[in-house]
Amino acid sequence: MYTLNNPEYKKAREKAREIVKKMTLEEKVIQLTQYIGGDNSYNPESADAGETNAGRCGSFLAACGINEVNDIQKIAVEYTPFNIPIITGNDVIHGYRTTMPIPLAMSCTFDVDLVRAACRVAATEARCDNVHWTFSPMVDIARDSRWGRVAEGYGEDTFLCTKMAAAAVKGYQNDGGVMACMKHYVGYSACEGGRDYNGCDMSDQTLFNVYLPPFKAGIDAGVATFMSSFNEINGIPCSGSKKMLTDILRGKLGFDGFVVSDYDSVLELINHGYAEDKKDAVLKGYGAGVDVIMSGNMYNNYLPELVREGKISEEQIDASVERIIAAKYVVGVMDEPFLDTEKPRPFVTPEHRKVAYETAVNSFVLLENDGILPIIPEKYAKKKIGLTGPVANDKNSVLGCWSSLKNTNFTVSIKEAFEKAFCDSEIVYEAGYSFDEDTSFEKGVQAMKDCDVIVACMAEYCSESGEATSKVSLELSEEQLDYLDMLFATGKPVIVLVSAGRPLIMTEIRKKAAAILYIWAPGTECGNAVCDVMTGKRNPCGRTTISFPYNVGQMPLYYNHKSTGRPAADKSSFESKYIDCPIGPLYPFGYGLSYTKFEYTDAALSADKLTEGETLTVSCKVKNTGHFAGSDVVQLYVRDLFGSITRPVKELKGFEKIFLEPGEEREVSFEITPEMLAFWNADMEYVTEPGAFKVWIAHDSGDNALEFDFSYCI
Ligand code: NOJ
Repeated sequence: MYTLNNPEYKKAREKAREIVKKMTLEEKVIQLTQYIGGDNSYNPESADAGETNAGRCGSFLAACGINEVNDIQKIAVEYTPFNIPIITGNDVIHGYRTTMPIPLAMSCTFDVDLVRAACRVAATEARCDNVHWTFSPMVDIARDSRWGRVAEGYGEDTFLCTKMAAAAVKGYQNDGGVMACMKHYVGYSACEGGRDYNGCDMSDQTLFNVYLPPFKAGIDAGVATFMSSFNEINGIPCSGSKKMLTDILRGKLGFDGFVVSDYDSVLELINHGYAEDKKDAVLKGYGAGVDVIMSGNMYNNYLPELVREGKISEEQIDASVERIIAAKYVVGVMDEPFLDTEKPRPFVTPEHRKVAYETAVNSFVLLENDGILPIIPEKYAKKKIGLTGPVANDKNSVLGCWSSLKNTNFTVSIKEAFEKAFCDSEIVYEAGYSFDEDTSFEKGVQAMKDCDVIVACMAEYCSESGEATSKVSLELSEEQLDYLDMLFATGKPVIVLVSAGRPLIMTEIRKKAAAILYIWAPGTECGNAVCDVMTGKRNPCGRTTISFPYNVGQMPLYYNHKSTGRPAADKSSFESKYIDCPIGPLYPFGYGLSYTKFEYTDAALSADKLTEGETLTVSCKVKNTGHFAGSDVVQLYVRDLFGSITRPVKELKGFEKIFLEPGEEREVSFEITPEMLAFWNADMEYVTEPGAFKVWIAHDSGDNALEFDFSYCI
């Protein structure tokens, strides 16, 4: 497929316009309606068949499968006015048949090429299963881990998220042939209290400086579609907000594709207290700019009437229909509605597994290590390795919260991979605590107590993150904490492995664990990736893209916060802090250990003044001073010291991931341009203000060692 920034898109719009000109109002509205797959509404044998036979929808949600969609398509091209094929949209969030790590994990790779490859694989598999459109990427900035959907996004940082968003769109669309969808537009993750679907109040400055840039990056990459979110923002639900969907999205950001509602977010305008009834909801939702309604008949039922009453203009309908038919040209169904059933379908190929494996390996974050890791098999020959905990032998939870077509048959478990890798050692397995096996703590401890090392594979169960999984506790479950305490009491070294969709609290665990490896939800290649990292075949290099809290009471928690008039500096009691907890994170954004050490020396800034049209260069030498080859993520942070509005204490402005052999040294440099320092000010102008700045080359957002001052003058 081609993208919306391709000149072909203009031609598609023209062809679509010609069709629209011939359509009646009712025929047009059909294109703006989506039905849900699997509910028989497209089945010619079913009671509802008349709907689709009469050509009552333009797209399907959650329909997939080569024959299933070909069958729907037959009905559509026969009965839909002008024989317009349907498109099918699906939640292909982190892989299709090959399950990739969850997006939060993907972002911890700091590797845009890998993320693009992971999305390419997902789209390739989905496309050969007749999926034309994925509801991904989710680019909601994650500042509050109580919100379960942090698992589905790329972490807390805007700059990183823009890079990941663009990579994902290119992977899905350019490489995989499936239309992408930027979601959830907008402010969905800023929900008060971290409670899913809850609303938020935010300034235009925060909206434009923090939440919108990843969406804009998707548009610049040529994304085909947007999804309007469930939440309200500043008193107006997004799915009824003309300001958000038309003035900003189309006017300021320049989006030219179509917008779909998040499920029944248009109907929900009634619950929000923003629409009186269904008809009013359609008037407000469609009127605001929701082109397509995801779930059902509301547009079919009310839009024609609203046009006849003069409340909605037919020009607006024409534009929406033109966009959706053009999208059908873009993705290729207008020319080729049916998939060739004879064509080979590359599902879970070795190449796809390789991408899943690399992404997983690169996403693991080593939080603690007293030197026990890696556990090299030769050193453990003839010894006993204890494997315990709910995901030690799991093939389901490690697939994560939204694996499209969950197939546990493809998953490699940690136990399977360990048994292969440690062929001269004894692997002792007993779950001790399990999501689905019959076991007990006593059995687990009994089996573990004579082992030379215990690998405790703990987890937040996969369905505890993702949509509608907000929490007020960010601890591992009480049972797992009790079990861990019993394992620690054996006196044996315990390596704690955590699989979760959000950063859980490691405050107490880290005091007793020999090491903590955070693996998120790694997907199909879980076991191979975990085993290779733990045995030193691969060196961990993930860096967390979301702050780990000491305590849930710190939420929202993010490194690029503002200062206060009384920043915490331990000089007086009357500072902005907690009396019972640090204000900063336990592990900051950008943090992650390695089996080697990367030393930064000879740091330099090319000049201490930056002027318009010029650049500064900040550089340092990075040396691998340890014994393992490995990758480092060198990070660039900037602070605007004072401005016409207050600015964050630090902002990521660049990163480079480099691989170094032991003893190898390389120079890394970053350019600083005035454009990189720009922000939306109080008058909503995008400006770089003259004044004083700080810049850091750092291992993570908490590292202030290499700091420079410079000023920007016009
Ligand atoms: C609701 C979710 O919020 C959204 O992310 C998803 O794409 C749709 N349902 C469709 O499943």
